[in-house]
Amino acid sequence: MFDKEIYIRRRAELKKSVKSGRILLLGNGEAPMNYRGNTYSFRQDSSFLYYVGLDTPGLMYLLDIDNDREYLLGDELTLDDIIWMGNLPSLKERAVAVGIETIVPTSKLSSLIDLNRIVHYLRPYRYRNQLILSELLSKKNDEILNGYSVELTKAVVAMRLIKSKEELMELENAGKIGYAMHIVAMKMCQPGVSEQEIAGTIEGLAIADGNRVSFPTILSMNGQTLHNHDHSGILSLGRLMLCDAGAENNNHYASDFTRTTAVGGKYSEKQKNIHNIVLEALNASIAMAKPGITYKSVHRNAYKIIFESLRDLGLVKGDTEEALNAGVPALFMPHGLGHALGLDVHDMEDLGETYVGYDDEIQRDTLFGYSSLRFGKRLQSGHVLTVEPGIYFVPQLIEKWEKEKINADFIHFKEVKKYLNFGGIRLEDDIVITDAGCRPVYEERLPVTIEEIQKIIIY
Ligand code: GLY
Ligand code: MN
Ligand code: MN
Repeated sequence: MFDKEIYIRRRAELKKSVKSGRILLLGNGEAPMNYRGNTYSFRQDSSFLYYVGLDTPGLMYLLDIDNDREYLLGDELTLDDIIWMGNLPSLKERAVAVGIETIVPTSKLSSLIDLNRIVHYLRPYRYRNQLILSELLSKKNDEILNGYSVELTKAVVAMRLIKSKEELMELENAGKIGYAMHIVAMKMCQPGVSEQEIAGTIEGLAIADGNRVSFPTILSMNGQTLHNHDHSGILSLGRLMLCDAGAENNNHYASDFTRTTAVGGKYSEKQKNIHNIVLEALNASIAMAKPGITYKSVHRNAYKIIFESLRDLGLVKGDTEEALNAGVPALFMPHGLGHALGLDVHDMEDLGETYVGYDDEIQRDTLFGYSSLRFGKRLQSGHVLTVEPGIYFVPQLIEKWEKEKINADFIHFKEVKKYLNFGGIRLEDDIVITDAGCRPVYEERLPVTIEEIQKIIIY
């Protein structure tokens, strides 16, 4: 938790950005895993954390803009709570710690709500919070989901997107844990070792040094599956291990790195070639990222590098601009170049990816590949983003394009099919946009060239 002045300042700024009515921020409740008393480990809502800072379940925050009052809603601990969970700080003490003077029992929430005045809330992503809003506002579930406040959403996105100094320090700490996770994964990347053992070991590091992983670890020899959570493989020579993993630190900020390593550090020519193309796309993207440039154009430039380099390898052909306009590189990289990073690994995706990544000026493309870009906006100092180009050979996608002759004029399918067992390579770094350009969130960069990676694996 930060100093209370930070939360007081954030709430004051929020109040200025929303004209009238009441703002209701719902914290999360406990979520049962298989029965009520056996819960998933608690994760507070990120916007609630940002404005209120309190990391305990069952809280709400109400800001009455019209009357200039604010309330923390929750219930004091019962003796039973204390017997089972310990003598935690009282609700009053927790409220004081974040600069809120008035606490109100949860049951009194409706008495503070005037249904004739607007109630601004963020789009709920948990059923519990949908239900609370539905009962409070006497609306059906789908009305609740569609009735979120665009004004509040835009105000929250604008504030959370620009990271402050203290947030950058937290992100750096998450980066440091993520760095350690990846070094261990690389060292363990030896033939005969199971994917599960590596995934479990690095997840343990995230828990030992921080709060948890920032998302379920992706670790597989089948890196062509973009979000592969199946860790049942046993590493074998000749294969690649794609590891996309990060930590959520104790203050809930995230890191998100990807490295792809050849098992035992032994790279084939094909693997070296593809690795070096992805690395070039990564480095060129980082070199290009600076205030004033749109991330959409950085994504397109990564596609350009991938297309032209694969053309040099004989996998594709034709004019670069025509190929880019036709979306040819999406066959090899069917995802976006990156996303905002912060309290969430895909920061604020619960509020709507388009509010986070696009605006009146920069709109999302509809073409396959480009349409998956989560963040296309013009970059500003204080944005924190991932940069994660990749090249994958997805057999089913290649088959479909060949069968349906999609972009057939640009693709040497016979050559591409020589890579059907390749898997995929993704390399992902986390950057912060500065006045001058950008810098890594955590200063030490993970080994990224083949030589650097080999030094870690072959020890
Ligand atoms: N961790 C999933 C991603 O890189 O977006
Ligand atoms: Mn990732
Ligand atoms: Mn990512």
